Amino acid sequence: MGIGSAARAFRILPEAALTAAPLGLFRELHEVNMQSHDRNWVEYFAGVGHQVVTPLAAGMEGAVYRLGGGLIGKVWGRRGIAELTSLQEFYDDITAARLPFATPQILDVLKVERTSVTIERELPGRPLKQAVSRRPGNQLLAEDAVVEVLHALATVPASATMHRLAVLDEQQPLWNGADLLRAAVAPVGFEYVHGRLLELVDRQTSRPLSVVHGDLCAENILVDDDLRPVALLDFGFLSTVGDPAFDASVAAGILDMYGPAAREVDDRLTARIAREFGYPVELLLLYRVAYSIATANAYALDGDDGHFAWCAQVLQRDDILEVLDMPAI
Ligand SMILES: Nc1ncnc2c1ncn2[C@@H]1O[C@H](COP(=O)(O)OP(=O)(O)O)[C@@H](O)[C@H]1O
Ligand SMILES: [Mg+2]
Repeated sequence: MGIGSAARAFRILPEAALTAAPLGLFRELHEVNMQSHDRNWVEYFAGVGHQVVTPLAAGMEGAVYRLGGGLIGKVWGRRGIAELTSLQEFYDDITAARLPFATPQILDVLKVERTSVTIERELPGRPLKQAVSRRPGNQLLAEDAVVEVLHALATVPASATMHRLAVLDEQQPLWNGADLLRAAVAPVGFEYVHGRLLELVDRQTSRPLSVVHGDLCAENILVDDDLRPVALLDFGFLSTVGDPAFDASVAAGILDMYGPAAREVDDRLTARIAREFGYPVELLLLYRVAYSIATANAYALDGDDGHFAWCAQVLQRDDILEVLDMPAI
């Protein structure tokens, strides 16, 4: 993959913000950092009529403010209006599926000078990540929460809008050109080639496509006091439609990816998902390979970060190398 979108957003924002800021914003320009809240955005939101504006959180892609009245504002580092409008439509299709927990709704996409801002509904709950770090005994409940979210996502059918979302730093939707290959290999029959591939990769019949979140980590699942998921947010990094087993594979790998018990949690959750959803463990490991290759440099261009090291390590795991060596799975 090329330059990661999140990495770009992170590096470029301080400079972009300089030209993007409405007059008077970012007075201490050299201090501006994507992951810190700039009180001038608080002034901006208050200035356009929001009642009680407070910084809420800052992630890889932007800074989030609580606006009062059940709304939040997200100031984006990199994404443009067109992309965010696609994300808005994508979210609308997920909302239409009426999941048992809340998912984001973008009410407005704004350009403030050259910075994109979305106004969204505030979601209930607090990040699963926080809940687990407060009480390590919550680890098994956290795994329940992830599995519950996976069950729900696998029921959200693929829509035309979902096919139109680009992933990572790509400009074109992931699904663009999917028909070109079908046409190019028509002489041997795309269905034949594809069918053989499925037989090799997936011992069972292929599953219907469903929505794929792609970044189902403990920061993006909001839970209540009993650690039950009450909201799921932050689609967009690697969101598309595909085999729900892909989300399951990624979720198992990243729930505790940097923790001391990372491998134990991964193995336990992978085994549980294989049992509970009927996905072959080998397929889950194969998807882990795909995820690691696709996202290795999504956060740092030079591979000088934890995510890259994690991906490189995945690709050298014995059990993964064994799967790659199999003539069939
Ligand atoms: N609509 C919302 N309601 C409540 N909290 C939110 C909402 N959107 C974002 N947050 C909070 O802000 C954090 C960062 O937002 P997120 O959309 O995940 O951004 P990033 O893409 O930068 O990770 C989330 O983990 C969550 O705690
Ligand atoms: Mg996030």
